[in-house]
This record gives sequence, C-alpha cells and structure tokens, in this order.
Amino acid sequence: MANPGKGTFLITGGLGYIGSHTVVEMLQRNYNVVVIDNLSNSSELVLDRIASICGRKPVFYPIDLCDKPALEAVFAKEKELQAVIHFAALKAVGESVEKPLLYYKNNLISLVNLMDCMIENSVNNLVFSSSCTVYGEPDVLPVTEKSPVKQAISPYGNTKQVGEEIIHDTTQSSQLRSIALRYFNPVGAHSSGKLGELPLGKPNNLVPLITQTAVGIFPFLRIFGNDYSTPDGTCIRDYIHVEDVAVAHVIACERLLSGKGENYEVFNIGTGTGYSVLEVVKAFEKASGLNLPIQIEERRAGDIEKVFADTSLSNQILGWKATRSLDEMMSSAWVWQQSLINKE
Ligand code: NAD
Ligand code: UFG
Repeated sequence: MANPGKGTFLITGGLGYIGSHTVVEMLQRNYNVVVIDNLSNSSELVLDRIASICGRKPVFYPIDLCDKPALEAVFAKEKELQAVIHFAALKAVGESVEKPLLYYKNNLISLVNLMDCMIENSVNNLVFSSSCTVYGEPDVLPVTEKSPVKQAISPYGNTKQVGEEIIHDTTQSSQLRSIALRYFNPVGAHSSGKLGELPLGKPNNLVPLITQTAVGIFPFLRIFGNDYSTPDGTCIRDYIHVEDVAVAHVIACERLLSGKGENYEVFNIGTGTGYSVLEVVKAFEKASGLNLPIQIEERRAGDIEKVFADTSLSNQILGWKATRSLDEMMSSAWVWQQSLINKE
C-alpha cells in the first residue's frame, strides 16, 4: 500500500545485494518504492524476504533497462517518482575482461536509457552506484574524492568511470542533479538474518568465499598473495557493512530532494579503516567460533595492494557515517550463510 505524502523512489537493481537492503531501509522509513530488476543476478523471492522484514513489498517491474520501450512504459505509469537510485549493473570484474561488450552494453545503455526517461519525465534526482575501483592503485592513502581517477583495469571499472562522466556531463546541461556514491567493499547481511548476498554460481568476493568455505562448499580459502607491502603481507581493503551502505542511499536521496549541494557530487562510502585479508579471516573465526582452513596462493591478477577511504566529505557534507564494526559484518554474513544452508 502506497503511503500518501511520502516520497516515491525508483530503485533499479532493487532485488540485488545492495539494492534489496536499500529497499528495506526506504520502506522502513515509510517511503514508497518502485523496483526494476531483470533478475539476471537475483530472484523474485527476494520480494518475499523484503515483505517479511517490512510488512510490505515494493511495486515490482521485471524488465531490462536496455529495453527502452519497457522502461518508458514504467515511467508513463509511475507518475509520482521523485528520485532514482541506479544499482542495476553487471559487476563481475573477470567476466568483464572476457566479455567487454556485454558490460558496456548492459551497464552503459541502461544508464543512458534511464537518464533519457528521467529527463523526459522531469524526474531530476539520481543516485548512482560507483566504486572505489575508479581510484585504481592509489598513490596516497586514504583516498579522498579528489584523488586521481586512474585508468580502469577492467571494462567493469571503466563502466563506472564512464558512467560517472555521462552523469556529470548531463547534470551540467539539464535539470538533472546527481550524487555518485563510490562504495569500497560492501559485505555482511541484514541484521534480521532474512536478507544477504545470494551470489549465483561460484562467488568471486572474499566474504562469501569465507562463509561458503566455513560450511564445507570449498575445502579451503585461497589467499591471493602474502608478499604485499602490508603488515601481514595480504591486501588491505575498506570493508563496509551493507546496511551502512544502504543508509547512505537514503541520505543521498534526501539531500537531492532538499536541493542542497552542487548539481553533481561524489562521496566515498567506506569506514575509513583498512583491514587485511588475514584480519578479515580472524574476525570471521571470532564471529563463528570456527577455524577456517586457508591456503596461501599466487597473487590474483589486477588486485590492488591497499585502498581505504577518507570519509571526511561523506561524514561532514552528506551527514552519513558508517556505524557497524568488522565483527558485525562477519557475524551477520555468518548468520545469513547458515540460514541458506538450513533451507537446503
Ligand atoms: P547485484 O548483482 O547483487 O545487483 C544488481 C542487480 O541489478 C541484480 O539484481 C541484477 O539482476 C540487476 N540488473 C543488472 N543488469 C540489469 C539490467 N540491464 N536491467 C535490470 N536489472 C539489471 O550487485 P550489487 O552488489 O548489489 O551491486 C549494486 C551496484 O553497486 C552495482 O552497480 C555494482 O557495480 C555496484 N558496486 C558493487 C560493489 C560490491 O562489492 N558489491 C562495489 C562497488 C560498486
Ligand atoms: N581474496 C582472497 N581470496 C579469495 C577472494 C579474495 O585472498 O578467494 C582477496 C583479494 O585478493 C583481495 C581481497 O580479498 O585482496 C578482496 O577481494 P574481493 O574480490 O572481495 O574484492 P575486490 O576489492 O577485489 O573487488 C571489489 C568488487 C569489485 C570492485 C572493487 C572495488 O568485487 O567489483 O571491490 O570497488 F570493483
């Protein structure tokens, strides 16, 4: 049931990992939510999970954003949209190297179609999912929003850089206003235990690989290199709880609607603290009470040695701050993994 008087937001990719947590945050704040998702990396069952947490479902359109007529039909029907949060994208770095055109088509045509429809329908507020991948291997840490954007290592990373440029240019020549959020490493699951990452096939990312190793899907966790120039030799990342990432989107939408700020703004979404792969493994062992089997292997091609965020701008200007610890990230990921196994 729509809440009259509250804003209505379109969330693309709203059944995916970060999108579904953001849908929950929005519904819990009594906003109305319309979701578009082509289910290429998610399941319609996520709608039931959202309803079991919030007591209601968002309006859902199972369409592909590359299908412009289908997207136009959604905008023709949904006349109350005030802002769009654009999560929908393909995100597997390795796959993007093998299939660059798939990534350029899916991630960029969908963005252009979406912005066309927004402008045609005077929906002038856009929050965009960007990534710390735009900083590449940074020269200075922590990285600020003014740190140089390095040449992209993968076509996936390039879709984020080009996406930011497309949005920037459009905000300079139209009524469109936008905030790009550069996430660091979102991990963990919803505190209810009812929502989390559902990677289709073998995951590529550290935390789902840790939890799946812990339940015996894999015999050991492969650690890609322990000869980096870091205290324990393993790579350092800024892991951030997915619920903190979700809250950043609510605040970004509210900022756009308030009319504050420039037409185009960029914010880092991290905790500001870097942890090594081995520190993450230790935190998981503490959260689960298990010993995780590991094996040190060769470095993974394309990995950055260390990156973590300077979050001053998002703390001070956006008014957002990550609140959840690495322990909470690991314990929620573990509760989620166990709930999946118990269902099998
Ligand atoms: P996800 O794959 O779980 O969610 C993306 C959703 O978009 C999926 O449900 C998928 O079905 C949908 N989708 C993809 N292409 C679509 C299309 N053409 N039309 C309609 N729906 C489409 O990914 P996620 O981890 O939730 O990531 C969300 C966004 O955040 C992505 O843009 C991603 O690049 C970005 N990001 C993610 C991370 C991360 O580590 N998860 C880090 C930085 C940035
Ligand atoms: N790692 C391992 N073993 C594994 C998997 C990962 O040691 O089995 C290590 C990696 O080498 C890296 C760290 O764990 O040092 C984190 O790796 P992830 O794959 O979880 O994350 P990345 O930082 O490589 O990449 C993530 C997203 C990308 C995004 C990038 C920057 O997966 O989509 O953050 O935003 F581009």
